[in-house]
Amino acid sequence: MHFTVAIDGPAAAGKGTISRAIAREFGFAHLDTGLLYRAVGMKGGDPIVAARSLSPDDLARDGLRSLAAGEAASRVAVLPEVRAALVDFQRDFARREGGAVLDGRDIGTVICPEAEVKLFVTASAETRARRRWLEAGEDGSYEEVLAQVRARDARDIGRADAPLLAAPDAITLDTTEMTVSQAVEFAKDVIAQRLAERA
Ligand code: DC
Repeated sequence: MHFTVAIDGPAAAGKGTISRAIAREFGFAHLDTGLLYRAVGMKGGDPIVAARSLSPDDLARDGLRSLAAGEAASRVAVLPEVRAALVDFQRDFARREGGAVLDGRDIGTVICPEAEVKLFVTASAETRARRRWLEAGEDGSYEEVLAQVRARDARDIGRADAPLLAAPDAITLDTTEMTVSQAVEFAKDVIAQRLAERA
């Protein structure tokens, strides 16, 4: 069975948590595509060469979840050659047997426009910054994290190639006023319904 769930949205909206819960619930494989860009950003040297030679070891290195790695990822992600080098891997993953969930920025629009389910998970910049700041152990100031979230949004939305954008047929899930379990339940319901329609 091929079944692709595309989950897009800005940084710290809850995509990762929702994706992992869905993968567990339905037995799908999960790919956090942000990790690919983070690994390219942290590899150093020419980012295009880094993207073309990305290895499993690069994806396993320490520090990929840090704010600095997110910032580096967002910078290399504006380069069309970097994005092009990562397309085939993501598409193959999406169509693997048994179903797959991919989270990122352009999954429903560019990587898998044919995905069976598309969710656009978002939340206010303030809420996302507060979550990131709490996650980081209240390291640094909240205002600094908020400024970083806003800068990252602007870069991800404003880039020419594959900008952060909801696909026209995506279902938007605004998690600003939701608990994690409410957001997860919503996503599970959407997918269960789509699977039932296909059965
Ligand atoms: O989801 P994340 O915070 O790990 O993503 C880090 C950066 O990588 C994000 O700011 C933009 C880039 N990215 C992208 O351009 N396309 C994706 N599909 C995933 C991430």
